[in-house]
Amino acid sequence: MKLILLGPPGAGKGTQAKMLVECFSVPQISTGDILRAAVKDGSPMGVKAKSFMDSGALVPDEVVVGIVEERLVKSDCENGFILDGFPRTLPQADALTKTLAVLGKDIDSVISLEVDIEALVVRLAGRRTCSACGSGFHLQYEPPLKSGICDSCGGELIQREDDCEDTIRNRMSVYDEQTLPLVEYYRKAGTLSCVDGMLPIDEVGKAVRTLLGGSV
Ligand code: AP5
Repeated sequence: MKLILLGPPGAGKGTQAKMLVECFSVPQISTGDILRAAVKDGSPMGVKAKSFMDSGALVPDEVVVGIVEERLVKSDCENGFILDGFPRTLPQADALTKTLAVLGKDIDSVISLEVDIEALVVRLAGRRTCSACGSGFHLQYEPPLKSGICDSCGGELIQREDDCEDTIRNRMSVYDEQTLPLVEYYRKAGTLSCVDGMLPIDEVGKAVRTLLGGSV
């Protein structure tokens, strides 16, 4: 399965990707997670990416295309992968098509998660992430058993720096301007399906798995 999950910030791409990893045994490739890890490590790439991410802008295409090219040739991508947060611009989509062609591969499916803007803001403001293992929670929709503590590893739950109101607004407009055109791009390519991302997490998961032919 070679899948792209499309959708605005907070649509549920990461949440669904993690569920699909268990179902289909293929890796999740989240450019956001890779970039946040680079920022945390203070690597040259992280230092370069930080100011873009803090403002809600996109990191330059050549940086993220390089990350994905390196990741796709790893052996765990042999039987497929789930791209979460990539591509996000038309040049990134073209670069992905070319990279996959060189590898003799192609995207099987692009799923666009559709969510109202008011719901996105509530989701992002309530999101909490484990500082140790990266597990995701939501104060209202997926609350941890113990406030502020990760159910999986006991780590501290933190709020992402780009989940503050001003940055959320900027991320939404960046999505509309630079990423939304990809919906049409993949519709024309014949690979696009849309899923109602306003449904509860498990219902979205069922709809996605049904589209992909996995067990519901
Ligand atoms: P990235 O990390 O990719 O952020 P994003 O696209 O803004 O997406 P999010 O992670 O915020 O949302 P999501 O759709 O994964 O939602 P989630 O499942 O967490 O990118 C961050 C930054 O990195 C970018 O701004 C940019 O600077 C840079 N970057 C990354 N990729 C790049 C690229 N390709 N090019 C250039 N720059 C790049 O869900 C959100 C919350 O809602 C959670 O709390 C969850 O529990 C809850 N939730 C999920 N589904 C539901 C549901 N159905 N009902 C109720 N609650 C739900």
